[in-house]
Amino acid sequence: MIKVMFVCLGNICRSPLAEAVFAQRVKEQNLEGKLEVESCGTAAYHIGEKPDPRTITVAQHHHIPIDHRAQQLKKEHFNTFDYLIVMDESNASNAKEIEPANATSIMYKLRDFDTENEGSDVADPWFGDEDGFEVCYQTVDRCVDEFLHFLVKKHNLTSA
Ligand code: 4NP
Repeated sequence: MIKVMFVCLGNICRSPLAEAVFAQRVKEQNLEGKLEVESCGTAAYHIGEKPDPRTITVAQHHHIPIDHRAQQLKKEHFNTFDYLIVMDESNASNAKEIEPANATSIMYKLRDFDTENEGSDVADPWFGDEDGFEVCYQTVDRCVDEFLHFLVKKHNLTSA
């Protein structure tokens, strides 16, 4: 089983959306027995909370089921997950502050898998308006597809 953790700051906007889109694509491709996904935030602000209502709205609009409670990134995740996929540079530096010396997980930025502006940040839509959540969805959707392709190829995953 390949385990993937999407990481943002608050775990109520970007990473729960990435988790939900990834889970849906995994299901559609009959890869559920091969891949597991979760999400978390580097901050403790929203632990236990549901995603932001604007995240839920944009997910529903795109027929992506979303049901999540926020959790915080922990040291142990660096060994229990194969991939930690952060949304931006500040997530990466916050994560690296608690990275244990024996970490086994590989860290990427989600937009390392983007076909547009590769390697850039997934902008935080939290402070903006609803439009920012649609932009976020489009970016996440594009990158999740590419990331899933990458995983299938790298680990020779086949549909159940
Ligand atoms: P996220 O967005 O990291 O994509 O979940 C944010 C959510 C909450 C806050 C910041 C970013 N906040 O400051 O509470």
